Formats: sequence, C-alpha cells, structure tokens
Amino acid sequence: MTDSTELFINHLLGQMTLEEKIGQLNQPKAGDRIDPDAIRQGKAGSLIRAAGALTGQGSSGSDGADQANRLQQLALESRLKIPLIFGRDVIHGCRTIFPIPLAQAAAFNLELTQNAASVAAQEASACGLKWTFAPMLDIARDPRWGRVAEGNGEDPFLGVQMAASLVRGFQGDNMALPHKIIACAKHYVGYGSAEGGRDYENGEISEPTLRDVYLPPYESAIRAGVGTIMSAFLDLNGTPATANRRLLTDVLRGEWGFDGFVISDWDSIAELINHGVAGDRAEAASMALHAGVDMDMVSETYLETLAASIQAGKVSIQEIDDATLRILRIKHRAGLFDQPYTDPNRFVREVLTSESRQLARQFARECMVLLKNKDNILPLRSFRKILVAGDFVNARGELYGTWSPDGHGEDCVPLDQALKIAAPKDVNLSFAEDYDEAFDYAIEADLIVLVLGEHPRRSGENSNVSDLRLPPGQAELVDLMVTIGKPVILVVFAGRPLVITRQLHQVDAVLYAWHPGIEGGAALGEILFGIMSPSGRLPITFPRATGQVPIYYNHKNSGRPIAAEGWFKSRYVDLPATPLFPFGFGLTYTSFDYANMELSDTRLGKSISISANVTNTGKRTGNELIQLYVRDLVGSLTRPVRELKGFQRLELRPGETRRVTFTLTEEMLAFTRIDGSKGIEPGGFRVWIAPNSASGLGGEFRL
Ligand code: NOJ
Repeated sequence: MTDSTELFINHLLGQMTLEEKIGQLNQPKAGDRIDPDAIRQGKAGSLIRAAGALTGQGSSGSDGADQANRLQQLALESRLKIPLIFGRDVIHGCRTIFPIPLAQAAAFNLELTQNAASVAAQEASACGLKWTFAPMLDIARDPRWGRVAEGNGEDPFLGVQMAASLVRGFQGDNMALPHKIIACAKHYVGYGSAEGGRDYENGEISEPTLRDVYLPPYESAIRAGVGTIMSAFLDLNGTPATANRRLLTDVLRGEWGFDGFVISDWDSIAELINHGVAGDRAEAASMALHAGVDMDMVSETYLETLAASIQAGKVSIQEIDDATLRILRIKHRAGLFDQPYTDPNRFVREVLTSESRQLARQFARECMVLLKNKDNILPLRSFRKILVAGDFVNARGELYGTWSPDGHGEDCVPLDQALKIAAPKDVNLSFAEDYDEAFDYAIEADLIVLVLGEHPRRSGENSNVSDLRLPPGQAELVDLMVTIGKPVILVVFAGRPLVITRQLHQVDAVLYAWHPGIEGGAALGEILFGIMSPSGRLPITFPRATGQVPIYYNHKNSGRPIAAEGWFKSRYVDLPATPLFPFGFGLTYTSFDYANMELSDTRLGKSISISANVTNTGKRTGNELIQLYVRDLVGSLTRPVRELKGFQRLELRPGETRRVTFTLTEEMLAFTRIDGSKGIEPGGFRVWIAPNSASGLGGEFRL
C-alpha cells in the first residue's frame, strides 16, 4: 500500500456522492444491453461480459480492445472520470488454451504454471480485459463435482504452491503493466465440499479442517498479492459464504491483512434470500456488505437498495466508504487511472504467438499421466498398422476443456492430423470415430489406440455426475475392441478422475490426458511415439468406484484402519477400500529406485534434513517427481495418515543416481487444534521420501 495511492483514493472518495460510491460497488452484466447513460452517471464500477468480444463465446479479437475502449470512454465522461474494470473468466488461457487447471496441477511444475498464467494475462489484456476470475483455489475431494476440473486437486500443500504461482503469473510484480491483469482467488471458501458433488450445494467443514485444508491456498494467494477474492455460492456450516463476516472480514482482512476487494459470485447476494438468511433484496444487500462483500456481481441489489438502507439506518456510510476505497485502491494499483485504455494493436502481436503455443505444448506434455504400461508397450515402436478409434479422433476444441470461451477450435490441429505428424514415416495410421467402422478397421490393425472420455461440457460449472464411469457407450466399445485380441492402448480425455477400473484390466496401457489444450494432440503424439516421456502425476485420488467417494490420501486413520484383510475394519464388502490410483501416482518410460534414506538427526530442532538416493534403473532418460510426506503419530487431535510437505523433480539418465534432500521445519508441522490455536506438538513423526502417497522409504524423528 503506497502513500500516494492512499492519498489519491481518499481524496477521490471525499468528492464522491453516495450514488457514485454505490455505483462503484456495482458490477452489472452488460450483455448487449449496455445503458450508456448509466455508465456516464457512474452506476457501474466494473462490467462483466461487456459487449462483443468481451462476452467470450469464441469471439475475442482485436475488436475486444476497441469495444472496451468505447465503454471506457463513457466511464471517463462521468463526473469524476473513474475508469471501469473489465472482468471475465480467463481460466486456463485466453486464446492460447493451456491444459485445464486440474491437469496443470498434474504437471507439478510451478514455473510452467506461472508462465502459462502470464501468457493468459498478456492475451486477455490485449482483448481489453484487466481482471480475471481466476485462480480457483477450491480443494476438491469429490470428483463427481464438475468444478474439480477448474482447481488444483485435493492437496493443500500443492494448492498453496499453485495459488502463489498463478497469482504471480496473472499479476506479476506490478499489475499496472499493460500486459498484466488482476487475479481473483475464488470461491472463498469451502466450495469444493458441496454435498453429493452437486454444484452450489451446502457443505459442512470442521474448523481445524477448514484452517488446515481449505483456507491455506487463499492465504497463499494473499501473500502473493492477489488483488481480489470472490465469495462462494455455498452455505458453509449454516452461513452462506457471501454473508460470512467471520471469514470475509475477520480472517481475510483481520488475520491476513488483505487490502484488496471482495466480489460476490454471480447473483449470490440475491441468493441469500433462497438460502433463507435474508427476507428481501435490501436485507440480502446489507448483510453481504456488512459481511465484507465490496462488489456485487450481477444481482444489482447494492445499486437498488443500499441508499435506502442508509436512510433506514441499516447500513452505515462507513461501510460504503470502506468498500469503495478498497475498489478504488485496486483500480489505482492496476494503473487504470493512468492507462484506462487498451492499445488495439497489441492483439495481433501478442495473441497466439509461436512462443505461447510452445509453452502450451510443453504443458500438455507434462500434464499427461501414464497409469499403466504393460510390458513397456509404450512408447510404440514395432507396430506398423495402428488404428486410432473413439469419440476424440477428430477432436479440436474438444481438447480444450471447460471454460475456454476465447479458444477457437480451428486454432487447434485436429487429433488425427497431429498424430500423423508425430508418427514415424513407416507407421500406417487409420482412424475411426464411428464404432462399427472401428471394429472393421481393427481386424486389420496391429494395435488399437482408443481415444475416449468426457466432452468438455461434461465437466466444469454445474456439470456434475452421479456415475464416474466412462460416458455411456464407451465401455462397450472397449469391451468390443479387446475381444479382437490386438493390443489396446486407452487414452482418456476428461475433466475429472473417471472410474476406469474395468478398462484398466482389459487394456495394455492407459494414458490419462485430461483436457490438454490447444497443443494436446501434438503432445499426445509425441508421448505415444516416444519423442517425449510422460511425467505427470495425479493431483487427486482415483477411485475404483463412484461409491468410494469421497476418497483422498490425507484422510484420518480411524480406530479400525483400512486393512487388506480382517473383519470389522474400515472397508466395503464388495470392493477394496483403497483407491485405484493414489494421489501422486504416475509412471514414465523408465523406472526409478529409491535407496539410502537418511535423516540429519533423530530430533527436529528448528529443522531437519531428509535425503535419499534416486536411481534411474531403466533404459531411457526420465523425469521423476520425488515427494516428501509426513505423519504426526500422536496429536491432541487426530492427524492425517500422510501429508505432502515437499516435491522435487529430477531428470535422470539411464543408470544415473542423484541424492535428493528435503528440509522440514517446525512450522511445517503445525496444525490447528480444537481451541482454534495453531501450533506444533512434541512427539514422534513418520516421514517418507516417495514416488506417490501410498509407498516410499520411511523414517522417524521426534520433535
Ligand atoms: C459463476 C462462477 O461460479 C464463477 O466462478 C465465475 O467467475 C462467475 N460465474 C462469472 O462468470
């Protein structure tokens, strides 16, 4: 917070009428119905989805900047000339579409994450946007929930790292630079806990779990300087997130010192009436403002009711002033008073460049997770006649995934063509999207690659499923193809972990490709034909059956822990209780051995080092994600069976050994106790250096 910003905004506030202040708190949905006079009168602080290019829907172009500039001109004709902020969802790329966020998390590569967000900011800002409603930082333990695609998976440690990288990527060190945009950490908080996996549903989260699992990514975003926060739709523990003063004000501002502004989610202020905590729109508006929601997305309840609520003594002018100041502060910090307009010439130079495509290619390569590779059938070497069959054979925009309104399908090389480009010259590829045709071609082929999974509209907001198995018809195609007796490779495109238990046993190899973005086809080709090796790891647990959900690695032990055998243990009678694949799992084209784990001491003083040798025991260079896990053996509250505390990537040549070292500090072992205090407790800890959350070399130390 610089003094010059504070002086400027306080001076401005001093000149504002009540109506102008309330106008700043209002974000109307512009659509095609923009009322120029309302903007000239200062009745909007921001616009979401303003006309044309800014609506998204595959229409972004250089005209986006022109339209934003025209609207900005209206705002600058207002009495105090306060600029608008143009906001919209730029989630995993703008025109250059990167892998969906869940896939980005699978790459466990913070630098790539930051660089991709930086490209998204560059492109979005060239289209006239200055604000994105990203990153989504909701921890998700339920893959039925469609929005699992939009976040970083189930782990708070990974979530914390991703949050900081994403915020830095969007905003940089100085969000006033023309190619940077304001980030918005959402949906604060607990949105991923929606009951039944149904979007918008209620959640119940205990205070220690809220503090230790759901809140940390938000605190991390704030430490990284995030400008805005969005409140969630859900009712958390009986208080809708949009009305939760303790979380929006006491924790966010009081404990963490957040000085940016909070925006509601779409219409979520008016929805306080449906939740049953407000009787009418006026009550909903004053309740949200009092809780700490500064800007009203779309419901227009602030604009409609706040002035009268002041008259009625239900809202204080101080509350209005505080919210206005926070919004003006971020506008000033984002440079809007100095540079309200977008240079329309930037679009041609800065959008969909060869560098951005290269980055998207690299990200697509690194996000794919190899789950099975029987007899090292991949990479494909000796097969000359390969059939590629299934729903994604001709995929283009289908590779983009949820939330890619600015992506143009025609920018993407169709999957079949991309595979042809990657295949060696002596390989004959045939393609069949139609299932009957696929069967006929398969008879002639040496090997079958099935490209199946979810259409992008099957995940994302409100696209929840009650059954995690492959979409209808696809399992039958696999059943049919395996009867032919040729080797089968299954490639899955999806926005969530799907239940592929049946297929796993039927096919020779499984590569989980998520929705990999604009360069997804090329990256897939490179991996299948061995130009690149897969290196992604699961950022979320894969269940054996939908009925296992919620299932996540950092669960509590229970009094009757899951065991392979025996009665009266945590279990199912019809299914093992363990997941199909644990968090952190992923194979590559070589193998690694872990040995000689050592701890620098038997006690953790201020810190302790844990190290081990990792050797590439295979025949190809490979990239291993080495993970550090901890378990607090006895606590005043029950503790998770494992918690991720570190990860490092190592690229090793065949036969090469390197020693990897992690440092654990006291504060990394702190947790929230029943009285709300956070701290460490002396006692024994178990630690693992591991290739995933269900294995590894173990050791112990005391604190
Ligand atoms: C509703 C979604 O929940 C939120 O994530 C998004 O940013 C807004 N709509 C605006 O599009």
